Parts: sequence; structure tokens; C-alpha cells
Amino acid sequence: MNLYDRIPNNVNLSEDKKLQRALEKWLPNYLDWWREMGPEGFQEKDVWLRTAVDVGSEGWAHFDYVKMPEYRWGIFLEPALPDAKVGFGDNYGRPAYQEVPGEFRNSLRRIIVTQGDTEPASVEQQRQLGKTCPSLYDLRNLFQVNVEEGRHLWAMVYLLHAYFGRDGRDEADELLERRSGNPDKPRILEAFNQPCDDWLNFFAFTMFTDRDGKYQLSALAESGFEPLARTCQFMLTEEAHHMFVGDTGLGRVVRRTAQLMKEGDVRELGGIPLDIIQKYINFWFSYSLDLFGGEISSNSADFFAAGLKGRYKERDQYTDHLAVNENFTMTIVEEGQVKTREVPLRNALNEVLRGEYVKDCEKGLARWNKVLAGEGASERLFLPHPRFHRHVGEFAGHTFDIKGNLISREEFEQRQAEWLPTMEDREYVSSLMHPVYEPGKIANWIAPPAAGIKGKPFEFEYVKL
Ligand SMILES: [Fe+2]
Ligand SMILES: [Fe+2]
Repeated sequence: MNLYDRIPNNVNLSEDKKLQRALEKWLPNYLDWWREMGPEGFQEKDVWLRTAVDVGSEGWAHFDYVKMPEYRWGIFLEPALPDAKVGFGDNYGRPAYQEVPGEFRNSLRRIIVTQGDTEPASVEQQRQLGKTCPSLYDLRNLFQVNVEEGRHLWAMVYLLHAYFGRDGRDEADELLERRSGNPDKPRILEAFNQPCDDWLNFFAFTMFTDRDGKYQLSALAESGFEPLARTCQFMLTEEAHHMFVGDTGLGRVVRRTAQLMKEGDVRELGGIPLDIIQKYINFWFSYSLDLFGGEISSNSADFFAAGLKGRYKERDQYTDHLAVNENFTMTIVEEGQVKTREVPLRNALNEVLRGEYVKDCEKGLARWNKVLAGEGASERLFLPHPRFHRHVGEFAGHTFDIKGNLISREEFEQRQAEWLPTMEDREYVSSLMHPVYEPGKIANWIAPPAAGIKGKPFEFEYVKL
């Protein structure tokens, strides 16, 4: 581990002078982007952050006060397996690709650029949130997520520079040029152009949208292109914290709301009513489902056949790694009706991955409902039907109610205020967002966490303001 190189890395960067020079040229552009688009107003503050210092399961994270622009962004890959093999698809069992196979070059570049684009996008979406944090603990978690998304951008940029020559370098530059929500140069995926400007959005985003990231990275961690697999394996260890922030954050909002429900009217008491929480869940869950791509997809079949993108836990969960003879029963819309159709399994792999994701999200809902039950509330939260409010794939262009029944566009438009946050809901939530910067204090609309970070108490001064 060369932690004190200009670019910390465990890929022996100093032995590849050309690559090192190229990345050192990209570094100041990255820092310019960070200063322009990273958390606004906190760049000079000391934040108690974890920094990756090793990829081993023991002690890979080091905690200390750091100013964000001085964070040790670096390139960390899991160690190579001797004798790695392609784990699925038409080249199953052959040696893993150590270089980009020419025939898959465009597909691979597209996969890496699409993943890479989400990382800086989320930092841009979240850049104003520090000004309204509910506690110093939450402020620190926000910044932790932000610097790690910055590191994930480094991870993808390393692959582009190291393996894709000139067009890889061009793509790396463009990753710093697109901007979330900018109509002239938007980020690639729609969920990453949506505003994330209040903390309920932030928690729902880290719960649902970062969790999409977990499934995409897991599928890529199976990749036969070994540098990509090893990169994604290490990113997953960091990603777990982001989902923890979202899952427990929403759980704490739910707890506080349930407590206020016992005292009277949640709105009058300055909390977030359960129906608004439900609408935020509906919004971010449906946008995150879109990130998996079309239900029936020739890309998914091609990526699998090529050994580039596997299924979730491909090695551990499946015995048939070819997936050629199986079919998948897909729900589709035909002649104004919801029907089923058999499609080749390889064409259904986006939907298979989406199914794993939905199961994982349901566990989060069960945890929040347990909080509600524990506080004596009889109301329950739920996931909307996966057909609801979709903009990509089989169900885009049709309108469904929250339970997945096909309805007319007029009916959807009449009823969407029941299901999705209205302007008024968003304004109400943002009216509650006032910063709480005193150690140990917390905003009224959220409960404190069950524990602090890394053995520190909630009262710890996580950010020195
Ligand atoms: Fe990430
Ligand atoms: Fe993340």
C-alpha cells in the first residue's frame, strides 16, 4: 500500500510512469471539481472521517479529523486471486481477462462510465445539505458518504485511464464536466439528476439509490474483467456505510414521527407525517428501480454472455453459470393489459437483479415497521408496486396505481398527489430543515441514533465548526 504517494494506491502506480503522470494530471481537475461541486461551506472544517488505509478485512479504515479537500482519495483494489477464471457466460471457466478484450471494449467502457458518473453526481445532489443538518453526527455521515463517492469516482477513473487509452482519458475528463440536474450537460441516469435538497430526500436516496449501487457493484464484482471485479469488491465495503446511513436515518425519522403521533398532530408538533415519509419512499424507490434498466434487455444478455456482468452472488448462489436453457416469466403490458410472457433468462437479468434489490428493500421496510410497532403505532409503511411510476423499461409510458394496477393517465394525474411528494409536501419538509450544530443536540423531527460512530458517543464533536 503506497498510502503517502500523491495518489494513494495499492496498484504499484509508481512503476507505471505513464499512467501515474496521466492520473496526476487529472488530480488537480478533480480537486477543482470537488471545491466547486463538493459540500458547500465546509471545505476548511475538520471532519472525523474514516480513510481507507488497507483493503484487508481488518483495519482497512482509519478514523481521524481531516479537512475534506485533504482526504486521501486513492485507488484500492482487492488483492488478485491467483488463477482467476471467468465465472459465467460463454467464456465460463476460461482465464479471467486481465486486459480489455477487444470485442467487449465498448460495452465495458460504457458500463464503467455509467457507474462512474453516478459517483460525482450524488456529491453534487447533496452539496447543500450540510447547511441544514439535524446533528453533527449526521453532518459527519453526510461528508463520509461524499468523500467516499469521490473515491469511487477515482476507482472508475483509474480503470478508464489504465485500460482504455485515449478514449478512457476523454471519458474521465467528461466525468468532471457533466453536472447533476443541468439540462445542457446532465448526469447519465435520471435518478442522479433529481434534487436531493432536504434530509428526508438524503436518507431515502442513501437507502434506495445507494442500494441500487450495491447491486450493480455486486454484479460487476463477479466480472470476468478482473481489474473491474477487484475494484468493485472494495467499493462494496464502503457502500455498506452509505446504506446504513439511509436505513437508520429513515428509521430514526419514523421513530420520531411515531413518538409525536402519541402526543398529538405531527405537523403541529413539527414532525414529518407518516404519509409524507411514504411518498418519499415511493419516489426514490421507483426512480431507483429504473436504474436496473429495461425488463427485457439484449444488453443484459450480451454483458452476461461476455462474462462482464454477472448475477447477484453469481458464484455462491447459482450452479448453472451458463443460463442458456432457462426461461423467465416476465410481466409485460400488451394491448392495454398486464400479461405474462416467457423470455430467455439471459434477457431477463436486469429484472432478476431488480428482484434481489426489491427483497433487500423489503427488509428495510420491515425494520421501520418494527419501529412503528414498538412505539405503539398501528400504521405501516410499504414499498409501492415495482410497476408504479416507472420511466425506464416495460412499464414506462403506462400508468399504474401504487398497487400496480394499470390506470389511465388522467386517473394517475388526478391521484398522484396521494402517492408522490407534492410541492407543498416538499416545502413543508424543507421548512423543518434548520441546522443543529451543537454537539449532542438533535433536530425535533428525527430521533437520535442508537449509537455513535466507531465507539464514540452521539455527543462527540464529529465536525469542528
Ligand atoms: Fe459509490
Ligand atoms: Fe454510495
